[in-house]
Amino acid sequence: MTIWSNVIGTGGYLPATIRTNHDLSEMVDTTDSWIYERTGIKSRRIADVHETASSMAEIAARQAIEMAAIDAEQIDLIIVATGTPDRVYPSTACLVQERLGIKNCVSFDIQAACSGSVFGLSIADQYIKTGFAKTVLVIGSEVCSRIVDWTDRSTCILFGDGAGAVLLAASDRPGILATHIHSDGGYEDLLYCPNPQAAAQVRQDEAGFISMRGNEVFKVAVNTLGRIVDETLEANHLQQSDIDWLVPHQANTRIIAATAKKLGMSMDQVILTLETQGNTSSASVLLAFNQGVRDGRIKRGQTVLMEAFGAGFTWGSALLKF
Ligand code: UT7
Repeated sequence: MTIWSNVIGTGGYLPATIRTNHDLSEMVDTTDSWIYERTGIKSRRIADVHETASSMAEIAARQAIEMAAIDAEQIDLIIVATGTPDRVYPSTACLVQERLGIKNCVSFDIQAACSGSVFGLSIADQYIKTGFAKTVLVIGSEVCSRIVDWTDRSTCILFGDGAGAVLLAASDRPGILATHIHSDGGYEDLLYCPNPQAAAQVRQDEAGFISMRGNEVFKVAVNTLGRIVDETLEANHLQQSDIDWLVPHQANTRIIAATAKKLGMSMDQVILTLETQGNTSSASVLLAFNQGVRDGRIKRGQTVLMEAFGAGFTWGSALLKF
């Protein structure tokens, strides 16, 4: 009998503080119209001083557990994707396990930058398919605001904070149909965030903030996401019209529109959160998925294509029947 990974719950958390493009125009040399036209972003959420990746992850996780109506103790595996962990160790996943009061499970973090939640779904699916785990919590949680240089107008306009979660359970009903994940480590210079604590030598201009050559990243992202769409449809013998919803990583509406066009989809079939959330890195796909599920757009039995692209470069897709 084939074992599938079914979505049994979703959750999301956004900090209360809203930082608008207008707020940013008082901090750096930019305008609301430049940001909106080039990115599709109007505002983003910023974590309070007491909030961390694990505190936000806990809230998103509790929502997913509530929707699934399970006991948290049933979770056998917690995977947290984050580039902004509370601590180098213990992993944020271990901190979330403790926050949820789960004594008997396995927890670990993964680091795949903005592709983190798609990579997390892929890993979770392998563990469920092999029978290692029956119930898996996958979370993407990021306090990007803490690794953004708020004097750099080319990056600070892009990012926001938040957490998204999904609960998967083993089932004989089709769920995750396939995942396709890739990396190419040859692009470090185009998008990176230094870790000054672990570096042998720290450059003055590398104070631990995100550094991106946006225009070059943009071009690779559009081409790579086009390829991952082709790969996913081909490998799974699907037509464009078989996909009901595109749930993309939220980096730039122009990148998302190019992927939707490749799928022959109208933007009405795309879950967009970018305008009010910005790029929440590994949290963005699961936050968008949660939104689509909770507002009733994504319905049981529909086919969803998630895709993401991030530093590394890393990229991938997750194709699932909800
Ligand atoms: O999530 C991980 C993957 N990340 C991405 O996929 C991000 C991909 N990149 C992008 O989304 C876009 O490249 C950006 C939104 C980051 C930038 O848009 P762009 O159309 O590629 O602009 P650009 O970097 O080519 O800059 C165009 C101009 C430059 O001025 P000059 O050299 O033409 O005089 C920049 O200095 O815009 C200037 N600029 C700004 N102007 C006003 C850059 N940032 C700003 C700003 N406000 N915030």
